[in-house]
Amino acid sequence: MCGIIGYVGDDNATGYLVSGLEKLEYRGYDSAGIAVIENGKIDVIKSKGRLKALEEKIQAQSGFASGTVGIGHTRWATHGEPSDANSHPHLSKSGLFAVVHNGIIENFSFLKEKLISQGYEFKSETDTEVVAHLLEKNYDGDLLKAVKKTADALEGSYALGILCRDYPDEFVCVRRSSPLIVGISEKGNFIASDITAILSYTNNIYKLNDGEIALLSKSGVKFYDKYLQPLEKSITHIDWDISAAEKCGYEHFMIKEIMEQPEAVRATISPRIRDDGTIALDGVSLTKKELLALNRIYIVACGSAYHVGVVGKYVIEKLTRIPVEVDIASEFRYRDPIVDGNTLVIIISQSGETADTLAALRMAKAKNARVLSVVNVVGSSIASESDDVLYTWAGPEIAVATTKAYSTQLCMMYILAIHMAEEMGRIAHDETRRLLSSLMAIPEKIEDILRLSADIEETAKLFKDLEHAYFIGRNIDYAIALEASLKLKEISYIHSEAYGAGELKHGTISLIEPGTMVVALACVDELFPKTMSNIKEVKARGARVLCVTTAKHSEELKDIDYTLIVPDTDNLLIGSLEVIPMQLLGYYVAKHRGCDIDKPRNLAKSVTVE
Ligand code: G6P
Repeated sequence: MCGIIGYVGDDNATGYLVSGLEKLEYRGYDSAGIAVIENGKIDVIKSKGRLKALEEKIQAQSGFASGTVGIGHTRWATHGEPSDANSHPHLSKSGLFAVVHNGIIENFSFLKEKLISQGYEFKSETDTEVVAHLLEKNYDGDLLKAVKKTADALEGSYALGILCRDYPDEFVCVRRSSPLIVGISEKGNFIASDITAILSYTNNIYKLNDGEIALLSKSGVKFYDKYLQPLEKSITHIDWDISAAEKCGYEHFMIKEIMEQPEAVRATISPRIRDDGTIALDGVSLTKKELLALNRIYIVACGSAYHVGVVGKYVIEKLTRIPVEVDIASEFRYRDPIVDGNTLVIIISQSGETADTLAALRMAKAKNARVLSVVNVVGSSIASESDDVLYTWAGPEIAVATTKAYSTQLCMMYILAIHMAEEMGRIAHDETRRLLSSLMAIPEKIEDILRLSADIEETAKLFKDLEHAYFIGRNIDYAIALEASLKLKEISYIHSEAYGAGELKHGTISLIEPGTMVVALACVDELFPKTMSNIKEVKARGARVLCVTTAKHSEELKDIDYTLIVPDTDNLLIGSLEVIPMQLLGYYVAKHRGCDIDKPRNLAKSVTVE
C-alpha cells in the first residue's frame, strides 16, 4: 500500500526522499513522486511505474531539488488508475500546498463537487487532490489552522504530509486511522509511513495518535492535538537493525527472511520460556478466573495471519477445550458476531496496521470483549489499542509474502495455548514442560529443513510450468495447506487451491486429471492413514502426488511420486516444520518462473485500506 516519507534538515532532501521511497517499495505501489520546496516554490516530480522511472526523471531535470524540505510518496492505486497525473504529491490550485496521502477520504466526492462549484479545477481522479485544494481554501496565512480546518472536514482515513510554499523551512503532518511516525536524527527530521523508510538514519520515533499534528523543522518537532493545543510526546526506541531491512547478499528478501526463521523463532520463544519449564508471558494479564469464565475465543486476522489463526484454533481447542472460531477480519466485522464481556478476541497481525483487522479489534472492544493481540511492530495501532499484547520478535519483514512473521506468530499461538491450558488446569505441568521442550527444539529442526533447500529447489522445478496445483491435508495439515497454497499462488501466479483432504471428493476431485499436481500434507500422525486414502483417490485419477510427511512415516510412502520429509515433533507443533518446505517450494517455483518475488503484482505488504 501507499508509502510516505518526508524530510527537513541541512542536506538536499531529494536523496533522503528517494532512498526512503526505495525502502517503502516493499509495501507495494504502482507510481511514485516527490515534492521539494525550492527558490520560493514547490517543485513536483512524479511518475507511473517503478521508482527507477522517477529517478530518471529527477536526473533529467538538472538542478531539480537542492531544497532541504520535501515529501515523497509511493502510490498503490485506489481512486483512479496508476498514472503520472494520479501520482502524489498533489498541488493545490496556485501551487501553494503539496500533499501526499495514505488512506481513503470517504467524503471526497462531496468535497470535490463543492470545490468545483467554487472554481477549483482537478487534475487527477484521486481523493487526495481535494485535500490540497481544501488546504489552500482554508489558508489565511496560518499553516496549522489551515491543516486543522482541513482535517476537521475530512471523513475516512488519512496520513498526510503537507508542504506549504509560505513555510519554506518546515512541513506538517497529520493522521487519522492510517499509520504515520515522526523520526528524529542528527541528519534531520523525518516522517514515514513505517520505520523501515528511515531506519538507516534513526531508531528513535514518535508515534502520532489519531488527530495529532506535527510541525517539523530542522531544529526539532512540535506536536499538537486536534484542537491545536501543544503536546508533549515521548520517544519510542525501535530495536531494529538496518541490516534486517537490507538484502545482505541474498537474491531476494523472501529467501533471506526464510533463512532468518530459526533466529526469529528463537528470539520470540526464548524470553517466554523459563529454565524451570514455566511460561513467562509478558504483556498478558488474563487471570485464571477470567480464563475460566470465557465462553468462546475468536481469532481474527487477514491473509497469512488468518492461516496462523486456523492452526491456533486446533491447538487452543485441543489444549484448553474452549470453543474457538477463526474469522477473516473483513468478514468478522460485518457479521454481527456474538461477542460479550466473556469473549476473548485474539487479533493476529504482522504490521499491526491492517485496516480490516484494526476495525475488527475496535468492534470487539466496543462489544466489551477482551482483546489480546499478537503483533510484530512495536507501538503499532493494533498493539496500542489491545488489552494485552504479545510481540513476535521477527524483526522487519520486507517481502510481501510473509514467512518469518508467520512462523513467529505460530509459535506465539502455541505458547499462548499452553499458558491458557495450564492456568485453567486443563493440562498438567509435566505436559507443559514436555510441550515447551519440544517447542524449544523447533528452531534447530527448522535449520535442518533449511539445509535441504537444494533438494526442495529440484522439486520446485516440477511445478515450473504448471497452471494449477492442489494442496490437501487434514487438521493442522489442512491449516498448513492453506498457507502453502497461498505462498505458491501469490508469488508464482500458479492457480492453486487448498482443500481438507476428506472434502476433495465433494467437488474438486472432478478437476483431477492425468498429470495434475497434488501436494498432500500428511504430518499429523493419527490422520496419516486417512490422508493416504485420499492420496490413493487422486492417484487413481492420474494425479502426480508430492507428499510432505515426517521422518517416522518415511517407510510408508511406496507409491508416492515425490516426497519431502520433515523432522518429527509433537503433533501440535508440526505446522512450524511442515510449512518451511512449502515456503521454499513457493519461493523456488516463483524464481524459476522469473517472477518479481518480493513485490508480486497487485499485492501490498501492509493493507491499510478496507
Ligand atoms: C497482506 C500481506 C500478507 C499478510 C496480510 C495481513 O496481504 O501480503 O502477508 O498476511 O496482509 O497483514 P498483517 O500485517 O495484518 O499480518
